[in-house]
Amino acid sequence: MSLPKVYYNNDKTSFAFSTCQKRWPIIIQNAIDDVAETVEKSKDEELIDQGKIIQTELLSLKDELTNDGEIKLFNEDSVPGLKSFDNTLQKLGFKITWLTGPWLYLECYLYRKINLFFIKKSKWNNYDIFEKLKRETFKSSSFGIYELAIRYKQLHDEITKIGKEKLDQEALKILFTEFVDISLWGNATDLSLLANATLEDIKSVQGAEARKKSELNILTNDLSKAWDQLINSSTKRVDFILDNAGFENFTDLILTLFLLDTGLSNEVIFHCKTRPWMVSDTMIKDFPILLEDLANIDWFPEHRAEMDFLISQLNKYHKSSHLKLVDHEFWTIDLEYWNINENETQFGGAEVFELLKPSDLIIVKGDLNYRKLTGDRQWLRSTPFVKGIGSLSTNGLKILALRTCKADVCLGLPLGKDEELSEYWRSLGNEVGELWCSSGKWAVISYSDGNLK
Ligand code: F6P
Ligand code: MG
Repeated sequence: MSLPKVYYNNDKTSFAFSTCQKRWPIIIQNAIDDVAETVEKSKDEELIDQGKIIQTELLSLKDELTNDGEIKLFNEDSVPGLKSFDNTLQKLGFKITWLTGPWLYLECYLYRKINLFFIKKSKWNNYDIFEKLKRETFKSSSFGIYELAIRYKQLHDEITKIGKEKLDQEALKILFTEFVDISLWGNATDLSLLANATLEDIKSVQGAEARKKSELNILTNDLSKAWDQLINSSTKRVDFILDNAGFENFTDLILTLFLLDTGLSNEVIFHCKTRPWMVSDTMIKDFPILLEDLANIDWFPEHRAEMDFLISQLNKYHKSSHLKLVDHEFWTIDLEYWNINENETQFGGAEVFELLKPSDLIIVKGDLNYRKLTGDRQWLRSTPFVKGIGSLSTNGLKILALRTCKADVCLGLPLGKDEELSEYWRSLGNEVGELWCSSGKWAVISYSDGNLK
């Protein structure tokens, strides 16, 4: 089967176009401003000097990008994963430029390039350029956070009253759907898209009311297959390939608490990024920060009983290792997830495969992870999901993708749905109808049992 092309940055009908022209320069500028703020507050001469160098490097990266410079080899073999980028660039035949090259590759390249400036400076090598932004937005999410803390406490009390062994399967399935929905729509809060969002904007995507309204916007839904897989499994281990920190990760934690409290899962493993990534992605260190922030009564003065209960439950499960957090370099390279198999021994694909093999359900969160699952290729949107995920469809991994659509690639839609939504999107005054798929207003829940014949 010949594969469709990937998406390119100079394709005006793709979200790649405005992403590289408008959003990437803003993201770099925000990084420059963040460094400037940290430099300004510091009295450490070395940190200040190095910070100024980083600012200059970021500025020249921004110039290079906006002037459509050519992409160069990293030639940094001692930094994990960068060799993979160089190999790909060589395969692409070098002549790749920022504003014309393959979108997914360049987006990954951009975040690694930014990261390189930091890890080379002794005073900045562990600095998370996006941490302030992650926490600020979390702080602005009190509406959704309170609502979920209250919902969780109420549910926990009910489960305790009934006894988890006596829970009715049908009721559990309905609750499972509710908590998966919470985690799915948590993905609508993505800092790379919400960089200039107001409190009202954030509120409008985070509450139960918003979720209810959005139910019809789930365009394909394989959740009952994932449910069957989970309840029929014996070890009941659930893995999350995480996406964003802050509110989204909070919703993943709410789903986790539900799974552990009800015994639907005995062990949950969070797979995190090893470095700042795609603005707001979760690193291991973001977990204690989230707990600290939830406990901050200046940020979250209300509903303290529910909030403190939630924190104690998270601590309990984390300390008893029912909830574990791990990270791996594989998640921040350019390779698509088709490389998660025993043959990819150079950049961690085989290792990740071994790590995930014992899992009963692998929940893959968010847009970028979905793009990597599907190779970010121009599939017809009615192509079955399992046809677009390479060797993942046959290597036994049980994958559940929860994704709000924020990029072009999309599979598994009913015939005619793409055309219908494109028409609708045009009728709202948008020039390119197909871009409905990058608006974050629709979502897909897709499952693969890894046993496609
Ligand atoms: O599509 C725009 C974008 O910023 C992509 O760069 C990336 O795929 C995605 O959004 C990030 O979203 P998420 O956090 O859901 O992966
Ligand atoms: Mg993300």
